[in-house]
Amino acid sequence: MASADSGIEGLIRSDLINFGGYAASKSPEALAGKVEAPSGRIIKLDANENPYGCSPRVNQALAGYPDINIYPDASQAELKRLLQQYTGVAAKHIVAGAGSDQLIDLILRLFVEAGDEVINCPPTFAMFRFFTGLNGGTPVEVPRDENFAVKVGAVRAAITDRTKLILLATPNNPTGTVMPRKDILEILDTGRPVLVDEAYYEFSRQTVAPLVGRYPNLMVLRTFSKWAGLAGLRIGYGLFPVKIARYLTSIKEPYCVNVAAMVAVRETLKDIDYLMANVRAVIAERQRLFGQLQRLKWLKPHRSQANFILCSVLNGRARELKQKLESRGILVRYFDQPLLRNFIRISVGKAEDTDILIKTLKEIGGGNG
Ligand SMILES: Cc1ncc(COP(=O)(O)O)c(C=O)c1O
Repeated sequence: MASADSGIEGLIRSDLINFGGYAASKSPEALAGKVEAPSGRIIKLDANENPYGCSPRVNQALAGYPDINIYPDASQAELKRLLQQYTGVAAKHIVAGAGSDQLIDLILRLFVEAGDEVINCPPTFAMFRFFTGLNGGTPVEVPRDENFAVKVGAVRAAITDRTKLILLATPNNPTGTVMPRKDILEILDTGRPVLVDEAYYEFSRQTVAPLVGRYPNLMVLRTFSKWAGLAGLRIGYGLFPVKIARYLTSIKEPYCVNVAAMVAVRETLKDIDYLMANVRAVIAERQRLFGQLQRLKWLKPHRSQANFILCSVLNGRARELKQKLESRGILVRYFDQPLLRNFIRISVGKAEDTDILIKTLKEIGGGNG
């Protein structure tokens, strides 16, 4: 008799048989006991998380939250009201999800059928390609220029009858580059649905959110993962033309934002001053980290408007450098792929994280020691 799972692969969607997945950041638990951290702790600079954590109000409110047995409000009424106040964009334009990742997925599901084309401008956020593939779309890659700027003319030229979406991140991950407003407008003028992912908006303060509703094809995504320190609770939101917001609401999983995330947003938005002081501290530390990296000579940091810095590794291999740092308890991200040959990306931590990182980089040295 054939084994129980023989033939199972023949039943799996053929386009997903070789789906590569996403190389997610490592959890500190996975490393516990495996690395020797001279600082006595893992310094996590690999996922652009907030080194200051969330508002203490969030911890307090969650500790005493009584209604965990009750489903969240599927209509997201309070959440939308709060987000309207925070963004200045009317509630009817807003849909929230379990992280902005979930909204990227929903948007692709809404627009893309098998074989439809999705324009992507690499190097950029890897989840764009991930969700395009997961939803049967065909990624059409329009690489950025040598300064990591989107080539607007090339994007426009890549549009065909099958183009359903154009995906843009600003500031872009992992390059930290902001897209000039006039470039976004030129792409919007094509009339194709355009997703502007502003996950790092609070660090750059540049946004096209006020244009939502004026363009029937503009969608803006934001998240609480970065500026508000809520990555672990998975809460993001999008600003959409009313029609698109209605369609997304009709296809979203009803309870996609859990009650803990809802409580966290409520408390976060009562504590904006505290959180914005932390954002300013990250921006100041980004400047200091940039200067220190520049002095190493064997790394070339690229200017960033987000909470991370991408560096070319001029002497040595990025992969080995990442591993050497990891064995010393410091996590960073490395890239070695066609449009990002030999790069590392370092999230901005606290001043003490920068100090230990720089000391360790000096010990390792160019050529990876
Ligand atoms: C550009 C960009 N968009 C979206 C996300 C995902 O954010 P969330 O935690 O809200 O899913 C990230 C996270 O790294 C990102 O870099």
